Amino acid sequence: MTRFSSLKSTIVLRLIIPVLLFIIIIECLFSFFVTRHYINESYDRWLLSSARSLEQEIKVSEGKVSARLSDSALKIFKWDDAGTTYFNIQTENGDILVGDLPAREFTPDQSSSQELFRNIYLNGEHLRMVSLKASGELPSIVYINVAETLNRRHDSFISILVTDLAPQILLTLVIGALLYKGVNRGLAPLNRLTRNIADRSPTDLSPLPDDDIYQEVMVLTDTINHLFAKLDDSISAQQRFISNAAHQLRTPLAGLKLQAERAQRENSIDTMRPALAQIQQSADRITHMINQLLLLARSDQIEGSHAFQQIDLLTLCKDICMEWVPKALEKDIAICFEDKAEQFEVNGDPVLLTELISNLIDNAINYGNPHGTILVTVQHTPSPMVIIEDDGPGISPQQLEKVFERFYRIPGTAGKGCGLGLAIVKEIADLHRIDLRLGQSGLGGVKAELRCPVVVKNNIV
Ligand SMILES: Nc1ncnc2c1ncn2[C@@H]1O[C@H](COP(=O)(O)OP(=O)(O)O)[C@@H](O)[C@H]1O
Ligand SMILES: [Mg+2]
Repeated sequence: MTRFSSLKSTIVLRLIIPVLLFIIIIECLFSFFVTRHYINESYDRWLLSSARSLEQEIKVSEGKVSARLSDSALKIFKWDDAGTTYFNIQTENGDILVGDLPAREFTPDQSSSQELFRNIYLNGEHLRMVSLKASGELPSIVYINVAETLNRRHDSFISILVTDLAPQILLTLVIGALLYKGVNRGLAPLNRLTRNIADRSPTDLSPLPDDDIYQEVMVLTDTINHLFAKLDDSISAQQRFISNAAHQLRTPLAGLKLQAERAQRENSIDTMRPALAQIQQSADRITHMINQLLLLARSDQIEGSHAFQQIDLLTLCKDICMEWVPKALEKDIAICFEDKAEQFEVNGDPVLLTELISNLIDNAINYGNPHGTILVTVQHTPSPMVIIEDDGPGISPQQLEKVFERFYRIPGTAGKGCGLGLAIVKEIADLHRIDLRLGQSGLGGVKAELRCPVVVKNNIV
């Protein structure tokens, strides 16, 4: 198919025109042969009756055969407005009794038949001829031959053919015009769909209407609607991110500005110090929040837009735990890693998965029991799972649902968090089709279970 080929012209060129041509050719051939057959038949009959009319001119006297036409009879017989008629009455030996047609020869085969039609060529003209064996009590065989030029046959043939074909061709053309109109009408829903898409505002991502649509086109509209839905998700994710970021950054930046103004009012560096320390804290907080927001933006992509790779989750978890050990030690917390799987592979984004697990360990360190323990377990059976639990105060069942909301922190929670950690954890888990459950740990604190889809040869099951 060429790049700009149109459906309408394809239907017209490949369907309507060939079908019409086929019908017209068939009509022409059929009319040609049928008309020729009937013209020949009726003119042959006329030729035969002319020949028979000559039989009465054959006379027998004294055992000898003779034939004679009066001038007026000859004139009537030879009268032909469009062509010429030739005739003769001849004996078996080729003696012409009367007439202007040269004597004909008969093969034994031909001479046995009562009447014989053939096409002959005489004086540069094609003629149709009938030969007739004269009947009656005659002493010898006498033949009557009558031949005529084909002009009258041709004229009749042409006029009948034209009279017959003209309405047929006209009818075929009318059918063609109706088909063309039908194609236009059939393509109208497609044109309406095109107009609907063209007239839309760029912000209108509502699904295309699927009434008044052909089944075949429904696949296309479904695909477009699916794409619209994905775009809508992506745009609302971006808008959410922008409004979250704007909302969350405005407050600490205002605080930062206040503290800077306060520092400027001080005269000595010593009196400035508390304000400067607060500026540093605010800057840390803003940095942390920006990092979290950026991460959220990264995980907030629409489904299918991430290029996943096969990751060894066992090694990844072990490495993350190692990275968090120094921070845990600052609070005298022990991180225990329990490895119950020989191998554990998942399809995913390593940066996002690292953030997911890190956020859970970070929470366990921040909100768990100081001088306590954090247990990270990686198991493959009975179900592939990563479990992170602590022995802190835990989260009450009423708060369990809320902690996944963006910017939600349990009232009274200390620390520099901004309430985005678990929202990020949830988004990353959903993106990886990981079933995340928060609950009560046997150690007393929070237990986060990450049930991962099994990986079989690069495919998630
Ligand atoms: N392991 C935990 N133990 C107790 N409380 C927790 C734990 N993890 C999270 N929380 C509570 O859930 C809230 C939301 O956590 P999170 O989304 O990570 O935000 P942030 O850590 O920035 O406050 C925290 O403020 C905290 O009150
Ligand atoms: Mg957190």
